[in-house]
Amino acid sequence: MALLEIRNLSRRFGDNTVVDNISLSIEAGEFFTLLGPSGCGKTTLLRMIAGFDAPDAGQILLDGIDLSGVPPESRAVRTVFQNYALFPHMTVAQNIAFPLEMANTPKSEIKQKIEEALDDVRLSGFAARWPHELSGGQRQRVAIARALVTRPRLLLLDEPLSALDAQLREQMQIELINLQKEVGITFIYVTHDQAEALALSHRIAVMNKGQVEQLDEPARIYSYPKSRFVADFIGTCNLFDGTVTQIEGNTMLLDVPGMGAVKAVAAPDAVVGSQGTIALRPEKTQVSAEIVSGVADENHFDGYVKELLYMGGVTVYIVETEGGVRIETLLANSAIGRPRLFEVGDAVDVAWRVDAGHFIALASHG
Ligand SMILES: Nc1ncnc2c1ncn2[C@@H]1O[C@H](COP(=O)(O)OP(=O)(O)OP(=O)(O)O)[C@@H](O)[C@H]1O
Ligand SMILES: [Mg+2]
Repeated sequence: MALLEIRNLSRRFGDNTVVDNISLSIEAGEFFTLLGPSGCGKTTLLRMIAGFDAPDAGQILLDGIDLSGVPPESRAVRTVFQNYALFPHMTVAQNIAFPLEMANTPKSEIKQKIEEALDDVRLSGFAARWPHELSGGQRQRVAIARALVTRPRLLLLDEPLSALDAQLREQMQIELINLQKEVGITFIYVTHDQAEALALSHRIAVMNKGQVEQLDEPARIYSYPKSRFVADFIGTCNLFDGTVTQIEGNTMLLDVPGMGAVKAVAAPDAVVGSQGTIALRPEKTQVSAEIVSGVADENHFDGYVKELLYMGGVTVYIVETEGGVRIETLLANSAIGRPRLFEVGDAVDVAWRVDAGHFIALASHG
């Protein structure tokens, strides 16, 4: 049995359906992420799981038990918010003790539980500090310790790192991965940052307009996006729209205006005459000064370097074909030891293996 099961859940505000018939289940011990753009319904979904808001339709089951009518404090669910939400007039220890006192935990046990919780978040020795004496990252660790101290079945984290600077964020991401492994509590993590979602999660639900567009492991979301929306939202992706003209054995051809025939692995949902998109990650391309053609299992397109962006370890080259299609490519600089391999205006050949592009049928366009 799944730890958490969400069945046909909906929430409307007036005419606005913010959570639209979502069903999903989450296993015990998972680091599960809800990822999507601002306003897609992530916080609304989380609030219903926590019990701060009630659905208009559908059910939420925890350990097989329907949570409808169960108040937040009676659910084995705790939430960490973006803005720390520590009690400013209480010390770190008092903050962490608060949920234990609410649960009538015997006084004799509270001290040890506080110490364990502080140890979990690497803040041993901070018990007597006041919230204003802590850095942002430390405050957020106390908020997490306070949420974990009652050992909930489920910890909900709503953009908990978004107030932190980039470097601290990365450090906290690594700590969160370790913490979740250590305590073994199921995490549902909300973010609109795709890199964060890919780095942290066992599985990701990509949300768009109140619905789940794709639910998968990070590597599958990245390599095999189910819709144009997912491909576009997760990292940088070339999207070549066209018409399927041929399917033969394992290979299909898509006629793309401005490019011509693009070869890809035949997709089960591709039909000759139908519309679709080839999604191609920039790092899956190669760029060379030599114009090549007629290689069976590769695509080759010639064009000119229109723009480049030196990023240290890698350089992004935007290559424009004769027909005006822009192909974004990404090349590592390290092997060569030169800051750039090409200049704007250079004639180049862009190539990628037939299996590097991923076909998305128009029917599933988001
Ligand atoms: N109490 C409310 N009354 C009316 N509309 C609401 C209410 N709460 C949320 N909404 C609307 O529901 C939609 C989804 O909001 P929600 O906060 O769930 O988005 P989100 O995915 O968490 O976005 P963000 O990434 O910006 O936090 C938004 O359009 C929002 O304006
Ligand atoms: Mg939100």
